[in-house]
Amino acid sequence: MKTKARPKKNQKPTRSREAAKRTLGLNVEKIRKDFPILREKVHGKALVYLDNAATTQKPLAVIEALDQYYREYNSNIHRGLHLLSEKATAVYEAARIKAQKFLNAADSREIIFTRGTTEGINLVAQTWGRQNLIEGDEIILSAMEHHSNIVPWQMLCGERKTVLKVIPINDAGELMMEELKKLFTSKTKLLALTHVSNALGTVNPLAEIIQFAHSRGVKVLVDGAQAVPHLKVDVQALDCDFYVFSGHKIYGPTGIGVLYGKYKLLEEMPPYQGGGDMIASVTFEKTLFKKPPHKFEAGTPHIAGVIGLGAALDYMDKIGLENIAAHEHDLLVYGTAKLQSIPGLELIGTAQHKAGVLSFTLGEIHPHDIGTIFDRQGVAIRAGHHCAQPVMDRFQIPATARASFALYNTRAEIDALAKAIHKVQEVFA
Ligand SMILES: Cc1ncc(COP(=O)(O)O)c(C=O)c1O
Repeated sequence: MKTKARPKKNQKPTRSREAAKRTLGLNVEKIRKDFPILREKVHGKALVYLDNAATTQKPLAVIEALDQYYREYNSNIHRGLHLLSEKATAVYEAARIKAQKFLNAADSREIIFTRGTTEGINLVAQTWGRQNLIEGDEIILSAMEHHSNIVPWQMLCGERKTVLKVIPINDAGELMMEELKKLFTSKTKLLALTHVSNALGTVNPLAEIIQFAHSRGVKVLVDGAQAVPHLKVDVQALDCDFYVFSGHKIYGPTGIGVLYGKYKLLEEMPPYQGGGDMIASVTFEKTLFKKPPHKFEAGTPHIAGVIGLGAALDYMDKIGLENIAAHEHDLLVYGTAKLQSIPGLELIGTAQHKAGVLSFTLGEIHPHDIGTIFDRQGVAIRAGHHCAQPVMDRFQIPATARASFALYNTRAEIDALAKAIHKVQEVFA
């Protein structure tokens, strides 16, 4: 009987060249070839794109899906009897089913296409919010929300005389869970919470929070803009009432997003906008609306955007969210250690459970200066308040520099980031 040869003592394990290129199941070099923009040069330097929380780059599969629609079957949907319209309608509605599967929603009618996360939240505020909230009712948010999950509720409070309450965060950038529980009263009607913070990277313990909110009869809207690129979301397991995200943050086009809502809630909500394609019948006396999701998709939608989003979801599905999450976690661990070893650098957002975001300050150097010097090195990051001014107020800083990862980033790019930080320190020495 043959036995496997054991490695000799002190012999280093050997890895094939192919295996060496792989990180935890992802062949990143191969993946990078799917993104034409990653071959671009910036100021004569290779592009190191670390601004993925702002928007991600697009794979060929998405670019080609858009190109194919406009070249081969461009037409309006749901109304034409001709072949092109039938094809566009079929591909558009197939994308709805892809989005349903992506979120594990129970029914494709629970998927509404919007312009993005911002529009999804405004839709819920202006429909469910106006229908259900009265003077004195309370909406709970957190101190780590993006402005798009603050301002729509503030606007509603101005009109409905409802009250906003804010869950505080600790020094690591985590929700203070005991404080959260204390905020709920008999007047609380809605909790609107981000799944992952764009400014800090914190991943919130949603399942536990949603269970608590529901035990108090409170509905929950989740801002998933920064979660869906990094972790597998299951809206049925979470049991959230609404979940919103943007296509452009998951390798899809801009101007398209998804609002998931439990069907019963959607059925009871009034429409957001009126117009064509959302009606069953119209007379000057009365209009009857279609059922969800069409009730919420007035007018000609962003057909190309939906088709591109469908291609992006297929692309992510092919790679596998578990693989993406593992790869990005490796980058986060590597990047955190690397940045923490740089004297004078302070990481803002050190939660135990984080997605691939590294926000930092460098003493007195303004993050805008950091961003500008980085740019000359070919390193693209975001500098500013990241549309989360309350987070900056909490940490008493005007802004941070933020590097955020996607599936195509590499450890070598994090090394380039660290090199760019040293360059900034040299300039300001
Ligand atoms: C957490 C979070 N919520 C909401 C948004 C708004 O997304 P959009 O501008 O695509 O509507 C963003 C965008 O950065 C975000 O990071």
